[in-house]
Amino acid sequence: MAIDDAMMDRRSFLSRLGTGVFAAAFGGAAGFPKRANAESPGTASPGRLLASAPVLQNAAETSIGVSFAVNALASGWVEISKSPDMSGAKRVYSGTGGLMDVNDRFALVRIRGLRPATRYWYRIGADRMEFKRYRPFNLASEADGKIHSFTTLGPGAGGSFCVIADTHQREPALGMTLAKLQELKPSVVIWNGDATGNFNTTLDDAMKTFIHVHPDYPEYAADTPWMFVNGNHDFRGLFNRHLQDLMMFRELDERAGRYASLGRNFVQRLGDIALIGLDTGEDKPDAHPYFGGVVKFEPYRRLQTRWLADMIETPAVKTAKFKVAFCHIPLSDANPAHNAGDEIDMERAAEWHRPCAQMWGPLFEKAGVNLVVTGHTHRFRVDPPCMGRTWTHMVSGGCDIWEKGAKRKFPTVIEGLQTPDGLHIRVHNATNGKIEYERTFT
Ligand SMILES: [Fe+2]
Ligand SMILES: [Fe+2]
Repeated sequence: MAIDDAMMDRRSFLSRLGTGVFAAAFGGAAGFPKRANAESPGTASPGRLLASAPVLQNAAETSIGVSFAVNALASGWVEISKSPDMSGAKRVYSGTGGLMDVNDRFALVRIRGLRPATRYWYRIGADRMEFKRYRPFNLASEADGKIHSFTTLGPGAGGSFCVIADTHQREPALGMTLAKLQELKPSVVIWNGDATGNFNTTLDDAMKTFIHVHPDYPEYAADTPWMFVNGNHDFRGLFNRHLQDLMMFRELDERAGRYASLGRNFVQRLGDIALIGLDTGEDKPDAHPYFGGVVKFEPYRRLQTRWLADMIETPAVKTAKFKVAFCHIPLSDANPAHNAGDEIDMERAAEWHRPCAQMWGPLFEKAGVNLVVTGHTHRFRVDPPCMGRTWTHMVSGGCDIWEKGAKRKFPTVIEGLQTPDGLHIRVHNATNGKIEYERTFT
């Protein structure tokens, strides 16, 4: 549904209710009357309804996702404009099908019908709701006073991407990483897994991981879209089994119906670069006792292999001058003694994932992928192309900080810049600003 359609649906809905104008709690957007049911039971709570800045996610050519926290039962929305003064703004509501979402903790809004490679301005807001038995009452609208902006992706988009991983909710390293991102101002950030500290048992845990990520950076993803890729820790804990409730899956129409379950995979263009997102899943075989018999990542990885084989034949990949893939667990390791993720080992964690490497590696080769960026080991390294592998493999650092950079353990921000000479990769050490590695793919 285009943004025009979403707005029209809501207006006719309100007119059928016969609602009256209600004053906004604060802020408010010109052109959008604040409404409440005529027989409304009254405003229950005078406190601020919006409880966080927006978090942009799932960037794409013609759509983007926005999530934010609320303090009371509410139905969230986003107002979006092509102008910084919000002239001609259109309001987009949450939910799919006939019902808008009503939730007392967060709102997810998917904005569709956008133009590729185009800058938009937006602000978030929500309608405070109350239910009397089965009937919803719309008490008041509240709009955020702050306007943010983003630019959609596409072959015409410019700028850079940045990759971070293994932030694990460790505030010191995450703060340094977010500071570096703020300085670099990329067009998009790929959060390459293990955002979760250890596990997310409850919604509160997950809100801290993904919405209130760091006290010094409350607007960490308000003006730059983040593409989230699962790491093995992002599958752990009861709430993470429903993580799409908070960090939404990608649009269904970004993939064919047979791949409907691949909610985290993506192929998106940032100018000349095809960005390819894959999910390595957990780091142990499905039969490992650790999982209690309730995981099935092996068929999930095989389905991704079929998806990847199809995607590399699409114009988005075939016409891209550069191809960069992202997944959490490394796809190569020169040490034969390391656990390769394909055996039931009760002692050692997997250092890499041989089954994914065997399935996806030949497809990367066929597609001419230049670079595969992974994480998981929390230790920066580069594996140059070698016999049997034409693509460069780069493993990012994570939340571990070892003094003097010993063992290459430091948080990294891997930056991919489009330059006249080609795709320039710079690896920033977030602890001291040093560029640890750079290379241009031509
Ligand atoms: Fe990790
Ligand atoms: Fe990991």
